[in-house]
Amino acid sequence: MKTIKELHDDAIAREIPIMKDDGIAYLYDFLQKHNIKNVLEIGSAIGFSSICMAMSKDDIHITTIEKDEERYQEAIQNIKDFGKENQITCLNMDALEYVPDRLYDLLFIDAAKSSNGRFFDRFTPYLINGGYVIVDNMYFYGFVDDIGQVRTKNLRQLVQKIQKFKTYIMEYPDYESTYLQTGDGIIIAQKKVSVEE
Ligand SMILES: C[S@@+](CC[C@H](N)C(=O)[O-])C[C@H]1O[C@@H](n2cnc3c(N)ncnc32)[C@H](O)[C@@H]1O
Repeated sequence: MKTIKELHDDAIAREIPIMKDDGIAYLYDFLQKHNIKNVLEIGSAIGFSSICMAMSKDDIHITTIEKDEERYQEAIQNIKDFGKENQITCLNMDALEYVPDRLYDLLFIDAAKSSNGRFFDRFTPYLINGGYVIVDNMYFYGFVDDIGQVRTKNLRQLVQKIQKFKTYIMEYPDYESTYLQTGDGIIIAQKKVSVEE
C-alpha cells in the first residue's frame, strides 16, 4: 500500500500535473477551517488532491471529474487503495457535460486552464450562498505576471486567457475574491450571502 508521499512522488516522477505542496497544504487547512462538507473538483488526474482532501476530515465528500480515461482508471484504483471510496465519487467525463444533482460548499477548479471561465460559469450556480471557489495555477509559473518571458504563440494565448480569467473572477459581482501567492497562485472567491437570506 502506497503512502500519500509515494503517490505524490510517483506523480511528479511521471510528470503528471498535481497541485504544488504548499497549495495542497493550504487547501487541506482551508477545508477544516471553513467546515467544508461537499466539494466539486474539476480535474482529478490520478486522484492525489481528492485523496488529500478526503484525508482532511471524515465528514467531507468530494465529487471529482477527470476526462482522461487512463488517469481516471488510475484515480479509481488509488482512491480504492487509500480506502476513500465512500468519500470520493470519481467520474470519467468532460466536466462541461456534468449536471450536478446537489449544491456544493466548494468548487475546486484544476483542469484545462483555458476553460477556467467556462467551468466557473457552469458550476457556480450550484454553490451554496457563502460557498467558495478555489482556482489553482493563477500564477502559472510566473508567466501571468510577466508574459514577456513567453516565447511561443500557443503558450502566450493560454497565458492571456488565464490573465483574462483572473481579472474576470477578481471583479465578478457578488463574489469576494482574493489572490494568494501560494503554490502556483491560488484564487479564493466567496459567493456573497444575499441580503434576502
Ligand atoms: C492539473 S491536473 C489535476 C491535478 C489534481 N487536481 C491534483 O492536484 O492531484 C488537470 C486534469 O484535468 C483534466 N481535465 C482537463 N480538462 C478537463 C475537462 N474538461 N473535464 C474533466 N477533466 C479535465 C486533465 O486530463 C488533467 O488530468
